[in-house]
Amino acid sequence: MIATKFGWNFDADGKTIGLNSRPGYIREMTEGSLRRLGVEAIDLYYQHRVDPEVPIEDVAGTVKELIAEGKVRHFGLSEAGVRTIRRAHAVQPVAALQSEYSLWWREPEDEILPTLEELGIGFVPFSPLGKGFLTGKIDETTTFDPTDVRNTVPRFSPENRRANQAMVELVTRIAAEKQATPAQVALAWLLARRPWIVPIPGTTKLHRLEENLGAVDVELTADDLREIEDASSRITVQGARYSESSQRMIDR
Ligand SMILES: NC(=O)c1ccc[n+]([C@@H]2O[C@H](COP(=O)([O-])OP(=O)(O)OC[C@H]3O[C@@H](n4cnc5c(N)ncnc54)[C@H](OP(=O)(O)O)[C@@H]3O)[C@@H](O)[C@H]2O)c1
Repeated sequence: MIATKFGWNFDADGKTIGLNSRPGYIREMTEGSLRRLGVEAIDLYYQHRVDPEVPIEDVAGTVKELIAEGKVRHFGLSEAGVRTIRRAHAVQPVAALQSEYSLWWREPEDEILPTLEELGIGFVPFSPLGKGFLTGKIDETTTFDPTDVRNTVPRFSPENRRANQAMVELVTRIAAEKQATPAQVALAWLLARRPWIVPIPGTTKLHRLEENLGAVDVELTADDLREIEDASSRITVQGARYSESSQRMIDR
């Protein structure tokens, strides 16, 4: 399955300059993606962020046309709120929502997951390892490349990383009990939430890809899940998950 997204506006140098989900621009982006990927159709085409300038019905209608033309197979949204999801779904059924969800970002449980369940839409949690934090390989002394987005995330300030270690200690404790790794427990927890939840951990390393795939064999029992629930409910995660400018792009 090849999945990609549209929704950012690019300048001539390929730098992103805000959002752009205007129908003509979606079509332009689609042709570019098909050419670069070397495929006849994009299996799953997500809108990356909801564009407040373009009614979601126009976006869904454009993707509907692209599906009819055989260029796209399924429609997805990312970080869309429930009202937008319902409006889009009424025009073109939404196959999947890709939004952040993990042990340290559980907002989707309030409104998003019940709505997806009702409408029969799959959920694809991004940053399921808390951008690497939940793996236990990051602490307050870790430094990131200057281009790394985590430098701009309040949750990754050194003091918040120190404060948030409690969540890592929890995952590490469960991992020891299950003879698994913390990353596998963080992913197994997501997989245990609903059968239609499919996390997408990111890594640049083959051995970690293999480790992360091993999460499907980590079975968390009802007791394990209760222990995680009890312990995590006593932890208050410190720091926002996004910088203010990134947060402004989130549709709620
Ligand atoms: N829709 C959206 O707006 C959106 C936003 C953000 C991300 N995403 C997508 O979501 C996916 C993953 O999200 P993400 O990369 O932000 O966060 P993530 O999957 O939570 O964490 C990735 C980080 O964890 C490290 N890592 C991965 N597996 C590990 C392991 N087993 N042990 C130790 N460290 C491990 C990786 O480093 P190494 O590379 O060094 O292994 C990387 O720094 C990507 O496909 C990304 O494109 C989508």
